[in-house]
Amino acid sequence: MTTEKFSKRNLDPRLSSLYTSGGDKQKTYDRWAKNYEADLVNDMDYVAHIDVAQIFNQVFKDKNARILDVACGTGLVGAELGKLGFTQVDGTDFSSEMLKISVDRGVYQDVYQHDFTQPLDRKGQYDALICVGLFAFHEPKITDIIHVIQAVRPQSYCVISVNGAAWCELELETAVRSEAVKHGFCIEKIHKSRYIKREGINGRIMVIRSPEKFRIDE
Ligand SMILES: C[S@@+](CC[C@H](N)C(=O)[O-])C[C@H]1O[C@@H](n2cnc3c(N)ncnc32)[C@H](O)[C@@H]1O
Repeated sequence: MTTEKFSKRNLDPRLSSLYTSGGDKQKTYDRWAKNYEADLVNDMDYVAHIDVAQIFNQVFKDKNARILDVACGTGLVGAELGKLGFTQVDGTDFSSEMLKISVDRGVYQDVYQHDFTQPLDRKGQYDALICVGLFAFHEPKITDIIHVIQAVRPQSYCVISVNGAAWCELELETAVRSEAVKHGFCIEKIHKSRYIKREGINGRIMVIRSPEKFRIDE
């Protein structure tokens, strides 16, 4: 178990409301949508979308498969997957304002709203999924990961990032391994990656295989 320490005291104020409890996170993302890329990518050097897409490309080779980008935001991940040659990517997010920008970017075939603290209606429809930036300090909790994994068919690849500061502070490796046992998915590999460089926050990228069989009551 790693013991890296992270202080929220010195955090950029644009991130602190997301990393503390309370408040309506959906509204916060709606309000942030227009400045999201200028703030996070340009000012804070957010690179998670690049690293996670690279790992996805290493493990998943079918460029014409149906892929879901979970918590797609403004479409940064979709754009990376497009550059790598993936042709059939849908995007989903709970923020309608983030989704509007992702639609304008033109990198997704279909885009729809969903809150991943809740189970998905469109279960088992995708051949693989990628999820960047959804799991951090507060909701959705790591116990909601099954709502994400349910989007794919049995035994499909799910490449999911976690904020590295939250990973260490909340001991999320233990938590996610216990979810894997509970739901029958397999964590094949956990990579350490870049995340938000200027804030000194790294990430973890989990390569997961969905369960052989999903439980009916999930
Ligand atoms: C840090 S951003 C990452 C966006 C995009 N994946 C990227 O790499 O630029 C986190 C995204 O998760 C979305 N999000 C946060 N909580 C969510 C939830 N419970 N359900 C669905 N989307 C959520 C936010 O709206 C936001 O677009």
